[in-house]
Amino acid sequence: MTAIQSVHGRRVWDSRGNPTVEVDVRLQNGVMGRAIAPAGASRGKREAIDLRDGGSALRGKNVARAVANVNGPIAAALQGHEVSDQSALDALLIGLDPSPLKDSLGGNATVATSLAVLHAAAAAAGKPLWRHVADCYGRTPSLPLPEIQIFGGGAHAGRRVDIQDFMIMVPGAASFDEVMEVTNEVYFAAGDIMASRGNLAGVADEGGWWPLFRSNEEALETLVAAIEKAGEKPGDRVVISLDIAASEFGENGVYTLALEDRKLDSGALIDMLGGWLDAYPIASIEDPVGEDDTVGMIAFTQRYGNHVQIIGDDYLVTNAALVRNAVSDRACNCVLVKVNQAGTVSEAVDAFTAAQDAGWTAVVSARSGETEDTSIAHLSTGLGGGQLKVGSFQRSERMVKWNECLRIQDALGADAFVGGAPLAQTWWGQS
Ligand code: PGA
Ligand code: ZN
Repeated sequence: MTAIQSVHGRRVWDSRGNPTVEVDVRLQNGVMGRAIAPAGASRGKREAIDLRDGGSALRGKNVARAVANVNGPIAAALQGHEVSDQSALDALLIGLDPSPLKDSLGGNATVATSLAVLHAAAAAAGKPLWRHVADCYGRTPSLPLPEIQIFGGGAHAGRRVDIQDFMIMVPGAASFDEVMEVTNEVYFAAGDIMASRGNLAGVADEGGWWPLFRSNEEALETLVAAIEKAGEKPGDRVVISLDIAASEFGENGVYTLALEDRKLDSGALIDMLGGWLDAYPIASIEDPVGEDDTVGMIAFTQRYGNHVQIIGDDYLVTNAALVRNAVSDRACNCVLVKVNQAGTVSEAVDAFTAAQDAGWTAVVSARSGETEDTSIAHLSTGLGGGQLKVGSFQRSERMVKWNECLRIQDALGADAFVGGAPLAQTWWGQS
């Protein structure tokens, strides 16, 4: 039994140079836990609010109010409580702000606090965070299958191309370490190809190469070429994963592909994506239609759900109730889990569990605005059986997560890599 002595919030800065919230939870035995809130750019309408001060200073993005909420009501409510009872402490946070989107406390205030509590509890128990998570939720830990961005796009690259993430997965790798090696080869092969065309122009927000392409499909063709240049046969050990992030370019069933100067209705968008699924070795696709396009998501899942992983991000916003609705609608077959979309660890774990209970897969994910915080590497390992999406293979706010997984691999053993198991329901798993 170790009680919370103090909760202290401060303003720190994220990978885009924007203010964000860091929280220290100190225990009566002197142990401390710390976590930092990430921030999204392509945010779902139904996710927890990132409380910002507005006004002209710091482009309206200051977090003084969120920090004050940590140091005021949150600290007062948590002081003296037992740290190991994560769900009771998260319930206290939810009780302080029962609004669905946490708009009075701010999801940034609650998520940093909730994760700092998790860290403090692990430290008090003398366990690494991944082990604490596994023990807390009765799970068998395993190293996740990564999704790694090679080209950025959408809201992370000035909307230079419409599609947001062109990624690879290496389900055929024997270890997490091997995934890193293959990714290095593919990432730099892609850079070499861009350079040879005179199109190398730095990186997007998550470290993927800047998308100087004439069409969305040219990015896909280049990704295939990069996989081949790296000495791999596309669809063999390495497969493609896309985040369409369609809410960013569509509303009310009308989608505008700015780069190609085309407008599509939901059916035409689904046909276009279906053409890509036929032409390229794509094993996973995220938010293929907009967050408000339930009819489109059901149609897409009915057509392709038996052979591709269909991830709901903006569509499900890490919300267990929305996951359960989608299960009964037969929309999606995988949930993206971003702790700050939910606002607390317990709610994020609920969404993860709701998905797995339905036979779905789950991908723990970073945001496009990140920091040195490594909590999600531990969360995905501790919950086990999953996948991890962190961005690209460059920039330290990304590499810090991959590197943390390698440290966990040393403790857990290379055999604890989940491999391609999460993709067993896709064509990849059947081949
Ligand atoms: P975001 O994007 O963090 O900018 O919202 C990540 C994603 O869409 O998966
Ligand atoms: Zn997404």
